Amino acid sequence: MRLLGHKYSSFTVISPRIILTREDITRMPVDAIVNAANRKLLGGGGVDGAIHRAAGPRLLEECRTLNGCQTGSSKITKGYDLPAKYVIHTVGPVWHGGYQNEEELLAGCYSTSLGIAKEQNCRSLAFPNISTGIYGFPKEKAATIAIRVVNDFLKENNIPEKIYFVCFDEENFSIYTNVLE
Ligand code: AR6
Repeated sequence: MRLLGHKYSSFTVISPRIILTREDITRMPVDAIVNAANRKLLGGGGVDGAIHRAAGPRLLEECRTLNGCQTGSSKITKGYDLPAKYVIHTVGPVWHGGYQNEEELLAGCYSTSLGIAKEQNCRSLAFPNISTGIYGFPKEKAATIAIRVVNDFLKENNIPEKIYFVCFDEENFSIYTNVLE
């Protein structure tokens, strides 16, 4: 894959269907990337800002037609100027100490994104570490939930064929390395 030449990228094949990588998700040439958005779906900071910048203004135009999205749920748009065909926008929970159903809501982000990817026949899907930036979800707990939901889904479904866990920060990358291996 062409990303292998990028100076920051590092790919670890965990299983035939799961790949762990350190990368900027906006560079991923997959069928769909997941965006860690907010309920308005009108852009923001972090990975959301990076995705909107890389996709160009037509992404925001399409997002305006979606009427937002609930926490723990997801909606799909085209990818516009991104290498990815689609963006699946999901809304992670803000961490409030674990007393506001955050773990189930985060699991919902992964499962609804997987369901939409399957519906759209996306063969490859890349996830960022949803909620672990600005929203403050503990990284290790988030990784465990993400990996559990993805593994359960892959057992029951043939599409998506390949899942990329895209870690941007070193800490998440090393947590995922430990949890996955
Ligand atoms: N590629 C991959 N991962 C990235 C990138 C990138 N280009 N940039 C950041 N990350 P965050 P959240 C990682 O804060 O916690 C926005 O304002 C980052 O290292 O982007 O779900 C939205 O509009 C972290 O591990 O999302 C919401 O308001 C992960 O992405 C709010 O932030 C998630 O960090 C959502 O907060």
